[in-house]
Amino acid sequence: MRSHYCGELNATNISQEVTLCGWVHRRRDHGGVIFLDVRDREGVTQVVFDPDRAESFALADSVRNEYVVKLTGKVRARPEGTTNPNMSTGEIEILGLELEVLNAAQTPPFQLDEHQAVGEDVRLKNRFIDLRRPEVQQKLRFRSKVTSVLRRYLDDNGFLDIETPILTRATPEGARDYLVPSRTQQGSFFALPQSPQLFKQLLMVSGFDRYYQIAKCFRDEDLRADRQPEFTQIDIEASFMSEEEIMRMTEEMITGMFKELLSVDLGAFPRMPYSEAMETYGSDKPDLRIPLTIVTVSDLMTEVDFKVFSGPAKDEKGRVAALKVPGGNSLTRKQIDEYTKFVGIYGAKGLAYIKVNDKSNLEEGLQSPIVKFLPIEVRQQLLDRLEAQDGDLIFFGADSIKVVTEALGALRCKVGDDLNLYTCEWAPLWVVDFPMFEETSDGGITAIHHPFTAPSCSAEELKANPLTALSQAYDMVLNGTELGGGSIRIHKGDMQETVFELLNISPEEQEEKFGFLLDALKFGAPPHGGLAFGLDRLVMLMTGSQSIRDVIAFPKTQSATCLLTQAPGEVSEKQLKELHIRVRKPVVE
Ligand code: AMO
Ligand code: AMP
Repeated sequence: MRSHYCGELNATNISQEVTLCGWVHRRRDHGGVIFLDVRDREGVTQVVFDPDRAESFALADSVRNEYVVKLTGKVRARPEGTTNPNMSTGEIEILGLELEVLNAAQTPPFQLDEHQAVGEDVRLKNRFIDLRRPEVQQKLRFRSKVTSVLRRYLDDNGFLDIETPILTRATPEGARDYLVPSRTQQGSFFALPQSPQLFKQLLMVSGFDRYYQIAKCFRDEDLRADRQPEFTQIDIEASFMSEEEIMRMTEEMITGMFKELLSVDLGAFPRMPYSEAMETYGSDKPDLRIPLTIVTVSDLMTEVDFKVFSGPAKDEKGRVAALKVPGGNSLTRKQIDEYTKFVGIYGAKGLAYIKVNDKSNLEEGLQSPIVKFLPIEVRQQLLDRLEAQDGDLIFFGADSIKVVTEALGALRCKVGDDLNLYTCEWAPLWVVDFPMFEETSDGGITAIHHPFTAPSCSAEELKANPLTALSQAYDMVLNGTELGGGSIRIHKGDMQETVFELLNISPEEQEEKFGFLLDALKFGAPPHGGLAFGLDRLVMLMTGSQSIRDVIAFPKTQSATCLLTQAPGEVSEKQLKELHIRVRKPVVE
């Protein structure tokens, strides 16, 4: 129907006759001439209709925003003084000759350039209109470029794109499963995959050697700004590759993509052991753009006359730590109170602080509600350890290791963001040397990555020290977001059984849930490993989006519903019957 896209026209097209199709972006009546800005996915072009052609002029006068039109006209230079350097088509306009309305449109629930005036709910409910906004279109086009560049890299490196089932059994990645009832097997359920983890391992056992998939994953978990119940992984697995080789290759893939699409050189990624990330940054995904670090000061506080500090300082499960904010002296009482409230979210019972007004005067130069409890020599040691300068503020956390780590880790990011302390735009790193397991609140243990991750030690050593044993897992982190995670897998049955045993999974349960994996490991499983990137998060970061919903065409809300289709929805009695399901309606009080 068309000869050109609206947005691709420029001065080189002057005097050509063109046919365009698109949406009326804006209509303006300028004393006798009608201007239509016509939009398609490539951009907007200005079309002028004058009264000389009465029929098209009358039609142009009658169209409204979002009408779908087809028009033919002649490209000409805009009159001097009316060019628009902000538009790619700003040097030209079209003299409209013919106009056809392909479809009328009702007044949209919101105008594209007034989207901010309506809530996100209205936009998501009318997502087909929201998706017309150039900013949203740009993001989805960028996403398409990201997958295309990554595919090309993986194809060029011998990875095969293989699909794995969506109707499957549970894959333990730490979230709840989405279940699908079976009609043919009464009382049985499929689970939607939390990841293709087990299938990709089976593909390695089958000898495909290198696999990838742009895979939909489903996790019923608490949603946040960077989580969706249904999201996409760039899922990768390879045989006969070491941890080092997998990390090097996927790092090259990501740095190459940043260079190609953003002209950004990420450089070589530093590596940081998990223990250091937790102790110094209070997070397993530290945001290294922020120069603040958390410093343990428990040893200085064991004898102070302040139980809040001396208690955790003496307790082997406790910790007293400090976070120095350079120049933070200017924070007001109100701001400090807000930060105190903020750390409360993480269980901290308070937020002691010292303002360093004059470090040469340890009697009077420190302003703080707690300094009176600290002997002079402790004050000095503290300032020395933190390399504090006049004008700095030091925050303190004293509690269990977990609470202090989480509270100061979150505070570090919040203060860094509030005071705009960022030192660079991009800070990638690998977090390595994760422990195999962590303790759960009920005293059991759970896998930190997933139960198929290989330990760095023998089965005997693992059994002897499950909580201190390290794994061959690695996470790629960018600007405080976990972009991807992976590991070398267990490829021997006895080691896999050991890990299941440590996780308190009985032999019967192992057989019932993972019998196929244990079987596969008996029949010639090669050493293998891999990694999965969260595509949505990657695109979110690369496009500077605030929410993961901005880079997904049809996202779900924080309460895991689709406002557009009203999913999830009720189903008919007949369907339920076929599925052998009776619904227990929630009791309304
Ligand atoms: P993991 O669970 O770490 O590993 O997931 C890999 C990456 O997927 C992204 N991600 C999410 N993105 C959006 N919404 C979510 N709810 C969500 N959950 C995870 C993250 C994360 O880094 N099978 C393993 C990978 C492997 O070992 O190869 C796995 O799924 O960016
Ligand atoms: P209080 O003795 O409760 O008046 O507290 C004195 C100071 O210590 C206040 O600034 C509190 O915010 C702070 N504080 C109290 N409990 C803790 C804690 N567990 N960790 C860090 N600071 C705390």
